[in-house]
Amino acid sequence: MKLIRVKDYEELSKKASNILASQIILKPNSVIGLATGSTPVGMYRALVQLYKNGDLDFNDIKTFNLDEYYELNSANPQSYHYYMNENLFKHVNIKERNINIPNGMRKDIIEECDRYEKKIEACGGIDLQVLGIGRNGHVGFNEPDIKFEARTHIVELDHDTIEANSRFFESYEVVPKQAISMGIKTIMHARKILLLANGMEKAEAIYCTIKGKITPEVPASVLQLHPDVTIIIEEKAALMI
Ligand code: F6R
Repeated sequence: MKLIRVKDYEELSKKASNILASQIILKPNSVIGLATGSTPVGMYRALVQLYKNGDLDFNDIKTFNLDEYYELNSANPQSYHYYMNENLFKHVNIKERNINIPNGMRKDIIEECDRYEKKIEACGGIDLQVLGIGRNGHVGFNEPDIKFEARTHIVELDHDTIEANSRFFESYEVVPKQAISMGIKTIMHARKILLLANGMEKAEAIYCTIKGKITPEVPASVLQLHPDVTIIIEEKAALMI
């Protein structure tokens, strides 16, 4: 694991966007795995700026998002479809057909998970996967569990995750209780992984991810087994390491 400690969120966002930008410059038809949540917002902002400056081209880039809420329409401002559009896609020249996000509205959800996995494979796998981390150590929506869930699947969200995400909704009650998420194996198959951690509330999860034992109770700890992981950690998130 390569650890990059940064002093604040701005530096985290800048470094993360530079890593993504170099991936895109070195391989203009890269397949990029993307995350949502509050942590990568600054990275997306910086990427949009690089695009506007003429330094980046998304024309041949394909993307796969980690997850999406179950039964939340893509037009819903709380959906990850909406988030991605607002924060990145509508500002750059990515082709709509190259954007992939799990469809939580599909009737046959098992088939949707299967379709998603096959599409990642058909595109040659993910070159660089961006991850955030939950307070409970989740990556994507792979919640603490007794086993690692391998492939894209439907998830029952943890109380802690619902509570953390309720800040984006009107109340705890209306936060979806299920989501579709890439599995741990899907994530681990990415050639490179970039994990971003910001804020004191991530300090324990980051400690367990880097220094703890590898256990499905801290899903991110499995990253210790990946050959090419970079973690950008802001000062407060690094307090325990
Ligand atoms: C989002 C995702 C989640 C978030 C995590 C951290 O697509 O997969 O694992 O990365 O919940 O969220 P923030 O960044 O809001 O603290």
